[in-house]
Amino acid sequence: MNRPVPATHAAVEFVDVVFRRPAAGERGNGVAVLDGVSFTLNRGEVLAIVGPSGAGKTTLLHLVNRLLEADGGEVRVGGRRVRDWPPPALRRHAGLVFQSAPMLPGTVFDNLEAPLRLAGRALSRAEAARWLEAVELDPALLEQDAATLSSGQKQRVALLRTLATEPAVLLVDEVTSALDMASARVVESLVLDRVRTRGLSVLWVTHDEAQARRVAHRVLHLEGGRVRYLGPVDGYRWPAHPTDGPGKVACRPAGEGGGS
Ligand SMILES: Nc1ncnc2c1ncn2[C@@H]1O[C@H](COP(=O)(O)OP(=O)(O)O)[C@@H](O)[C@H]1O
Ligand SMILES: [Mg+2]
Repeated sequence: MNRPVPATHAAVEFVDVVFRRPAAGERGNGVAVLDGVSFTLNRGEVLAIVGPSGAGKTTLLHLVNRLLEADGGEVRVGGRRVRDWPPPALRRHAGLVFQSAPMLPGTVFDNLEAPLRLAGRALSRAEAARWLEAVELDPALLEQDAATLSSGQKQRVALLRTLATEPAVLLVDEVTSALDMASARVVESLVLDRVRTRGLSVLWVTHDEAQARRVAHRVLHLEGGRVRYLGPVDGYRWPAHPTDGPGKVACRPAGEGGGS
């Protein structure tokens, strides 16, 4: 996608961030999983995070809402250091959608309602039905045990569950990997609508080049825990042979080549 990067203040900033596994002090100094990572996500921007398996993409997302803590450098969200945020407020502000889409025990409705209830808000059946329809899921699913959903259905419910709480920053980890192209596009439209109308800012981990082109303003390519590219989608040379990731072929329109 070729849209100008919105010129607004930072939603997320990484300044020379280092993260080691095992954590510093556990066993020696650990191996740097992220090594001097710096970037800014502007408000109302979608930044695609790409790179091979093990590059550190999921780790990067988890540092934003403090599921993990950096060993060096600084992570700021909304202009504030993550360690200065109360964690529950941080996690509402920066909502994460896990790739595995873990469901809470209970029905689909229970899953959609739970985060809202934590935030002191109610959810009506009619509202919940509209959420499902927005991603082309049958509202009859509301009463179904969430554990019985397919992985593609779970991914959509997990995304809705997070979007319903109206985060300012959305952290998306391969959320369409189990979806066919049509369903992936419906999910993309829903997120992009929030970007355009509410200034939602998105870090979107994807293996799917065509998807990154459709949704992102810029690309951040991580490899071996370092930033290999940060810039406009159009200036990025996609690897000719992406090394991993489900969905990248399934979601590429017929006739579109693998690299540049
Ligand atoms: N819980 C963990 N314990 C030890 N190493 C881990 C753990 N989680 C991830 N790693 C390692 O950290 C690196 C980055 O992982 P990750 O952020 O999940 O990469 P990506 O999402 O790009 O595939 C990999 O080398 C991975 O093996
Ligand atoms: Mg990952």
